[in-house]
Amino acid sequence: VILTQDELKKIAAYKAVEFVESGMVLGLGTGSTAKHAVDRIGELLRLGKLNNIVGIPTSKMTHEQAVSVGIPLSDLDSHPVVDLAIDGADEVDPYMNLVKGRGGSLLREKMIEGACKKFVVIVDESKLVEHLGGSGLAMPVEIVPFCWKFTAHRLQLLFEEAGCVAKLRTFGENGKPFVTDNKNYIIDLYFKKDIGDLNAASDAILRHPGVVEHGMFLGMATTVIIAGELGVTMKNK
Ligand code: A5P
Repeated sequence: VILTQDELKKIAAYKAVEFVESGMVLGLGTGSTAKHAVDRIGELLRLGKLNNIVGIPTSKMTHEQAVSVGIPLSDLDSHPVVDLAIDGADEVDPYMNLVKGRGGSLLREKMIEGACKKFVVIVDESKLVEHLGGSGLAMPVEIVPFCWKFTAHRLQLLFEEAGCVAKLRTFGENGKPFVTDNKNYIIDLYFKKDIGDLNAASDAILRHPGVVEHGMFLGMATTVIIAGELGVTMKNK
């Protein structure tokens, strides 16, 4: 049998939910992979196999989904320590560094996943890369809308040597700016070459006043669960 990408995502998600125990405060991820984990947690609550769970959603979309499947919710103000977060990723490198945010959510994810004792990342094998940002796909940066062109230009210049092109994320036919849950914009950076040291790149991006956060999640994941045609593999920090 050849499994679809969505089936692989579901396998990884269900495996991650095996780490969930009653009484936990859980970070609930965003995206098509994390969605399966949220569904599964709701199902286990309904079946009485889990109880006393508090979920902290990483986006408005996940908030709605979690409400619809009956997961009691809270936030970091009330629950500053999170036991476990489960979330997908767009890219995972061999050191378990991630790119996230292609689905539009990254700031809340980073706040919540940064407050977690354990952060389990769930992916199908198509997300594995050698170098972050090397796949020619977007590296998202959340910025304030004020003078976004200025910030986009500055970000592009920052990575000039890597052949960076910075583009405002838009949606719909009229190309309206995509607006995040935090009412910000997203600049997607596309690189032609390797961006080199990731921590240096992270610091350089964050040093720009118009930048709110970027989608590189460095050294945050404690476990990565990878579902592939040949089965599930798990990597721990
Ligand atoms: C949301 O913006 C993201 O950070 C997601 O975690 C990431 O984009 C992975 O999403 P999929 O599971 O849909 O690939």
